This record gives sequence, structure tokens and C-alpha cells, in this order.
Amino acid sequence: MSVDNETAASGHYSGTSDPTIWFRSHFDQAAGEIVEFFAGDGISLKGSRVADVGCGDGITDLGLAQQAEPARLVGFDIRPTDREHLLELARQAGVELPGDGLPANLDFITSGEVRLPAEDRSFDYVVSWSAFEHILEPVPLLREIRRILTDEGVLFIQLWPFYHSMHGTHLVDWFPEGFAQYRHDDEHILATMQADGDPALVAEMFQAYQTLNRITADELLASLRQAGFRVAKLALQTDAVHIPEQASHLAASQVGISGIKLLAVKAGEPAPPVGAAASTPVRAGRKGVRVARRLLQRTDSALARLETSRPGGSR
Ligand SMILES: C[S@@+](CC[C@H](N)C(=O)[O-])C[C@H]1O[C@@H](n2cnc3c(N)ncnc32)[C@H](O)[C@@H]1O
Repeated sequence: MSVDNETAASGHYSGTSDPTIWFRSHFDQAAGEIVEFFAGDGISLKGSRVADVGCGDGITDLGLAQQAEPARLVGFDIRPTDREHLLELARQAGVELPGDGLPANLDFITSGEVRLPAEDRSFDYVVSWSAFEHILEPVPLLREIRRILTDEGVLFIQLWPFYHSMHGTHLVDWFPEGFAQYRHDDEHILATMQADGDPALVAEMFQAYQTLNRITADELLASLRQAGFRVAKLALQTDAVHIPEQASHLAASQVGISGIKLLAVKAGEPAPPVGAAASTPVRAGRKGVRVARRLLQRTDSALARLETSRPGGSR
């Protein structure tokens, strides 16, 4: 994987970093890495139907729409993607847009937690960048991805950083030394963030930290198998890390694997849901999912209140 820890930490996950770095790390770099990973297997997205699950602000999709020239690219996210904000970011970054609007092949659709509003077998490729560590119920969503993929379809997933790895908190701005999830309790983490950060950003990033599903590389692969996928290609990101004493109990694969990129294809039928443990092999479990949902709702409404009380205030 070409994203090293430092680039990824400063560009991909740093909430307070220079917006141009954020834009370029998605528009050029993330989109480029997706194209390159497919191209390594002789796959071109040109002229095909592509979905991005967990598209966020849509910057990567804008980059993909331009670089890969798919016939159609739909970004799905449980939070609506702000097209105007995306256009504004693109203009600020000096991106040339035909007709000064978003490309005609690019669309954004708000999805449900485990529901993608799309027809069966309506996409040739599904991509997901930096989303699977945030998804509360990975297996049901993977089953849904399988449903919307054609039988020959290919799923690309990138995940960085895994929860147990150095920057697994996604809070590198406040804890550049890493492993804050093992060095500090939540109270200390929140207080450190509140001491130095915009309150809305702190609320959003702390909530994102608390609701991480803590999935590991092995659990991601197990989830894919359970949902009826076979991993056909895999690249793990492993960098040298200094392990603090508080994290010394972790398995090498947990502490040492910071990211993954993979291609998966349909294999057989998805295993039927047979209860909470089978459908959610990660930390959350059903109760955890309910708690995380409540937390997300609370933070969403707190953020909405902050946004309406601040003139022009979204990140
Ligand atoms: C860290 S952001 C990554 C966004 C974008 N892919 C990027 O790289 O900037 C994770 C995104 O996943 C979205 N997400 C979380 N759970 C989801 C779900 N079940 N279905 C679709 N999107 C989800 C979040 O709303 C968020 O926008």
C-alpha cells in the first residue's frame, strides 16, 4: 500500500489538517489507489457502473468519476452528501469541472445502515474507502453489497487504520504519539480533545472514536466469507511501530496491521443470519449496536444544534 502512516495520518484522518491536503489525499490519492488496485488485476472501471459505500464528503468519488470515467458512479452514505460543499471544495482546490457542476455520471444517495437503495445486480463494482471500521453491522451491509453487485462483480475495500493499530483512534491531531486507545481512558481522551479543538469537531471525532466497530483484518475477512464473498486479492499495510506497555497484550496481527486493501468476488450463497454473534463478529454485538446508534443520534442532533447556532458553520 502506498499510503504510509504519516501521509495517511496527516491527510486521510486528520480533522484539522489543511483542507487542501484533505481534498488532494482523496481526490488524487484515494481515487488513484482504487484505480491502481483494480488495474493491477487488469480491471478498468471505464464505462462501468460503480457504487461507493460510505462515501462521506464525496471527494474520492469526484476523483474517481474524473480518473476512471465510469458510466455511472453512485456514492452511498447514511449521512447525506452535501453536493454544494463538494463543489465548493473542488473549486477551492482548482479542479476544472465541466459546466461548473458535478459530472453527469456522479450521483449521491442516502442509504440506510444495512440498506442500499439500489436494484439487485445493478452495479459492476462496489468500492469502499475508510468506512468499514465505522460500519456498525458489517455482515448485513456486506450481504446488501453482494445483492447489488452483478454475479461477476468485484468489491474493493480499503480500511485504514484498524482500531488496534497505532492510529486506530483516528485522533492523530490530539495524540500524535499513537495508541491513545490503550494509553488513556475515554475521559482523558475527551478532556485532551476539548482543551484544543473546535467543539463541533471534537464532538464529531469523539463520537466517531467511540463508535468504531474495532474490526480486525481477520474479522473483516470472516465477515466477507459470511456474507458470501471470497477475497481474491489482499494487500496488508504493516509498518514498524513502537508498542507501549499498555498494548503489549495485543496479537501481532492486531498491533502490526494498520490497514488493508482487498478485492472480493461472489462465492456461493451468503450464510443465513443465525443470531447476533454470527451476524456481527466485531465488538459491537446487538446491544453495542443499539448503544452506538443512540450515541450517533445524540451527537447528530448536538451537531445540528451547533450548526444552526453558528453562522456558516459546517466543516
Ligand atoms: C471515515 S468516513 C469515510 C468517508 C469517505 N469514504 C472518505 O474516505 O472520506 C466513514 C463514512 O462511513 C459512513 N458510514 C458509516 N456507516 C455506514 C453504513 N452502514 N452505510 C453507509 N455508510 C456508512 C459514515 O457516515 C462516514 O461518512
